[in-house]
Amino acid sequence: MLSGQQTGKQNGKQWQSKFMAPTGVLVRVEHLSRIITARAQKTVILDDLTFEIAANTLFAINGPSGSGKSTLLNLLTGIDRPSKGRVLFGGEELRARSENQLARWRGRHAGIIFQFFQLIPTLTAGENVLLALELGGGGGLPRRAWRERAQTCLELVGMGGFARRLPSELSGGQQQRVAIARALANDPPVLIADEPTGNLDSHTAHAVFDTLAGLKQQGKTIVYVTHDRELAARAEAGIELLDGRIAGQWLANAVITPPATTEEAQA
Ligand SMILES: Nc1ncnc2c1ncn2[C@@H]1O[C@H](COP(=O)(O)OP(=O)(O)OP(=O)(O)O)[C@@H](O)[C@H]1O
Ligand SMILES: [Mg+2]
Repeated sequence: MLSGQQTGKQNGKQWQSKFMAPTGVLVRVEHLSRIITARAQKTVILDDLTFEIAANTLFAINGPSGSGKSTLLNLLTGIDRPSKGRVLFGGEELRARSENQLARWRGRHAGIIFQFFQLIPTLTAGENVLLALELGGGGGLPRRAWRERAQTCLELVGMGGFARRLPSELSGGQQQRVAIARALANDPPVLIADEPTGNLDSHTAHAVFDTLAGLKQQGKTIVYVTHDRELAARAEAGIELLDGRIAGQWLANAVITPPATTEEAQA
């Protein structure tokens, strides 16, 4: 197995000893490919990715536009299914599940945060979080405890005083905080964020990112994509995608795949 020290880009970082401690592997991606066939044309979007995400890590997926970052996040959450290979989550394979089981699994295991917040506009901040509890089964809590749980999640992201506001009565940064609270509702071990600050001004982006990164203290693993170099550099581990392949990695036990030759690409 390749280690973070032997291969790939180190990103010029000095790794602190606490990140080197042997933590458990939460997500393992093995030979993962996503190939789309349309009009007899095969497009390889992700090509044979192998890497690991340690538990309780701030993990970045970097790469230029079109390199496959969102596609990979969708495979990690089971929104999309692999063409080849597999995603192991706490040692359990995602692929084996039906759509319904996957949706339920997602509710409990992965909180998803989108660039454009995607709050329900007719529901208040509190109701948006509550809806996630209803959809995800309440993270093991009895129904009578859900309201309090929703409020606790809002408080965790500094939005405790805004539970009764509609999304349209909140700033972009506040809406994204509510979206983070919603992602926390069912107490999932992983938060998956696709450009969570991409729709915010730089100052707000950094403040919202601090909130997201701070959830590590709650034991969360945070997997994120960002085009903001400073925020990308705050990751403790990560991979760099290029044309659907891993071109660099740090502390991700990733296999770096060289670009396919012309013959391979045609095969
Ligand atoms: N359903 C699809 N059908 C065909 N091609 C697709 C499909 N979904 C994604 N792609 C292609 O796969 C590649 C990777 O897309 P993806 O959205 O994962 O990139 P990304 O790294 O998230 O880019 P960005 O930074 O712009 O969000 C792109 O070339 C895209 O056009
Ligand atoms: Mg994307």
